[in-house]
Amino acid sequence: LSPEAALVDSLITTIPNFPEPGIDFRDLTPVFADGPALAALARGLVAPFEGRFDHIGGLEARGFLIAGAASVVSGAGVLSVRKAGKLPRAVLSQEYALEYGTAALEVHIGQLPPESRVLIVDDVLATGGTALAAANLIERAGWRVAGIAVALELGGLGGRARLEGRGIETFSLLTY
Ligand code: PRP
Ligand code: MG
Repeated sequence: LSPEAALVDSLITTIPNFPEPGIDFRDLTPVFADGPALAALARGLVAPFEGRFDHIGGLEARGFLIAGAASVVSGAGVLSVRKAGKLPRAVLSQEYALEYGTAALEVHIGQLPPESRVLIVDDVLATGGTALAAANLIERAGWRVAGIAVALELGGLGGRARLEGRGIETFSLLTY
């Protein structure tokens, strides 16, 4: 592991049987609560894409915590990718599947200049449904996906394969 990854890894806590029996919940709140660790996480996520993005795409809610930090370390502003019904101006909306039912992510139409290169950041990559919805939104809005960077990838759930199958460069600081 890189020094950044080792520091982040040392702070991730596993909570068994949350939110349901049999699920191991990976809690990143100790990473967010530690200033040097949050900075290291942000540096570690933007470094592989240096010079190849114009904006950070932050995914509500936990991705926002990382997006703000990634913005400060990279100098790139944040595209707000919000859950449905939160943005006040005209939006594009992209549905995605949850375990039960569907949800939607939204962006403001015209928020960024055409062809802007957006690096999507989030805390966890599991099935990839959230990240793929964000990528679809960004492309439909006339921007480009520079890649997807997450703190933690949960292997075996197919997220990376779904994203790479769409030609999206995928980076995770840690894989569990
Ligand atoms: C969680 C997590 C990722 C997503 C990963 O978000 O923060 O965004 O699930 O799962 P996937 O790869 O299967 O889509 P969630 O919407 O549950 O909650 P949040 O609003 O707290 O980020
Ligand atoms: Mg999330």
